[in-house]
Amino acid sequence: MKLSAFSLLAALIAGAAAAPTQDAPLAKRATPKVYLAGDSTMAKGGGGSGTDGWGQYLQASLKNAVVVNDAIAGRSARSYMNEGRFQAIVDVVQPGDFVVIEFGHNDGGSLSTTDNGRTDCFGDSTQTCISPTTGETVYTFVFYEVQAGKALMAKGAKVIFSSQTPNNPWETGTFTYGANRFVGYAQTAAKAIGAMYVDHGQYVANEFQRRGAAAVDAFFPLDHTHTSVAGAQVVAAQFVKAVLCANDALAPSVVNSTSSIPGSCV
Ligand SMILES: *[C@@H]1O[C@H](CO)[C@@H](O)[C@H](O)[C@H]1NC(C)=O
Repeated sequence: MKLSAFSLLAALIAGAAAAPTQDAPLAKRATPKVYLAGDSTMAKGGGGSGTDGWGQYLQASLKNAVVVNDAIAGRSARSYMNEGRFQAIVDVVQPGDFVVIEFGHNDGGSLSTTDNGRTDCFGDSTQTCISPTTGETVYTFVFYEVQAGKALMAKGAKVIFSSQTPNNPWETGTFTYGANRFVGYAQTAAKAIGAMYVDHGQYVANEFQRRGAAAVDAFFPLDHTHTSVAGAQVVAAQFVKAVLCANDALAPSVVNSTSSIPGSCV
């Protein structure tokens, strides 16, 4: 039997009506959640040895929103995807919730002879690589971020792509900050799907420049990547500053005024 367009539509509507309740649109929460997806620079416990991630210090600047820090040390956009961690957030997110996605520190490297399971395929689009060790098809940073962002936005979440934090820009004694390619990739991903973007890396770099070498060196007690608690608080504050300057959908949840946080809007 050939289905007419009308009977097909009718079948679809009947199917929809009979769908289990778990497929019904979820209600907004009274108090939205702010899920954080990232690496050690955002995660609880940072890179160990007393360092900490900035995601632990965001809650203090928010009202009517609850931070859920799902950042995990050592993860890249690729490994966060492959371990099902984006999916775990997709599974629990509700309309009106926020998801902040910030990767880059573990996404670099080459796939020519080895594969640490984290390196993305080079490029900012639909390029693919084959893992030299497992044969896995590896996609770009932008691809992983776009896939995650799309799935989250389809659930009604508001997605903020955030550029990675700088390594200590005073490491050589002279201030040097050059945004690496993952900063641009995060913006590319945001644009591709109409998500929000904040250049967190640039805000932090500017604030680190203002504070000077001695103060900033003290924020990096372990290596040039992982911050002390005090450093993590500065990094969190600059995320908040960036959100306020962008006046994006998370801004009304911030308790602080733009001028109360050091630095200028970029
Ligand atoms: C925002 O204000 C709260 C409450 O006074 C404070 O605890 C928090 O540290 C402030 N955040 C920033 C980024 O200054």
